[in-house]
Amino acid sequence: MEGLLHFLLAKIILVALASSFVSCYDPSPLQDYCVATNETNGVYVNGKFCKDPRRVTANDFYTSGLNVPGNTSTGPGAKITAVDVERMPGLNTLGVGMARIDFAPGGLVPPHTHPRASEIFLVIKGKLFVGFVSSDEYNYTLFTKVLYPGDVFVFPKSLPQFHANVGKTNAVVIAAAGSQNPGRIIIGDAVFGSKPLIDPKVLAKAFALDLDKVKYLQTVFS
Ligand SMILES: *[C@@H]1O[C@H](CO)[C@@H](O)[C@H](O)[C@H]1NC(C)=O
Ligand SMILES: *[C@@H]1O[C@H](CO)[C@@H](O)[C@H](O)[C@H]1NC(C)=O
Ligand SMILES: *[C@@H]1O[C@H](CO)[C@@H](O)[C@H](O)[C@H]1NC(C)=O
Repeated sequence: MEGLLHFLLAKIILVALASSFVSCYDPSPLQDYCVATNETNGVYVNGKFCKDPRRVTANDFYTSGLNVPGNTSTGPGAKITAVDVERMPGLNTLGVGMARIDFAPGGLVPPHTHPRASEIFLVIKGKLFVGFVSSDEYNYTLFTKVLYPGDVFVFPKSLPQFHANVGKTNAVVIAAAGSQNPGRIIIGDAVFGSKPLIDPKVLAKAFALDLDKVKYLQTVFS
């Protein structure tokens, strides 16, 4: 009987612990807001000090300029203009973030993951081919869609995803994430452009490539 009680108690504690981890995408705040400040006194939350709440103003929760297209002329033809905690100090601890993404014709946000948040986005202009891949447990299934203005697509947290402009015009997307700091790992950069580089022999074997191909990719990505 006592054994059973202990077992149940242990189970309840485990479930309580597990549910507290599940809600831990961004820390659950115990205050209305913790507006980020560069002053190094006061309370420190999510890597930022909180501004004295008596000095917080509407401008801490405001930014503008997302009507201005990003410059897509470099890299693979896409520019992400992020509203992050540097741009909007009031975002700190709120668990949300957003960005404008501009795509040149043929432009691309290459395969990447957001380690700390799911992402949902709305197409404002253009025609995009988007997708993500599930984990091994779900058989690396590829989910794709061609999107047009007004279409919304969501990318689950941490899964590899890509967005490609397959239209003839430029494309514009408004993206939102479930973290003030979703993070970004571009897979090509992480694998072939790490600092220092991964031993090319390892990558050649891992990706079934010639050593020369690996060395070439390392020059492209680093
Ligand atoms: C803090 O300093 C960084 C780097 O100098 C700057 O980009 C940012 O705007 C500053 N944030 C605030 C809230 O003053
Ligand atoms: C966009 O970036 C390119 C390359 O950095 C630069 O040459 C060009 O002047 C920029 N265009 C605008 C409109 O800022
Ligand atoms: C993954 O594949 C296995 C083996 O074919 C199958 O049993 C399982 O149902 C699949 N799972 C999903 C989520 O598709």
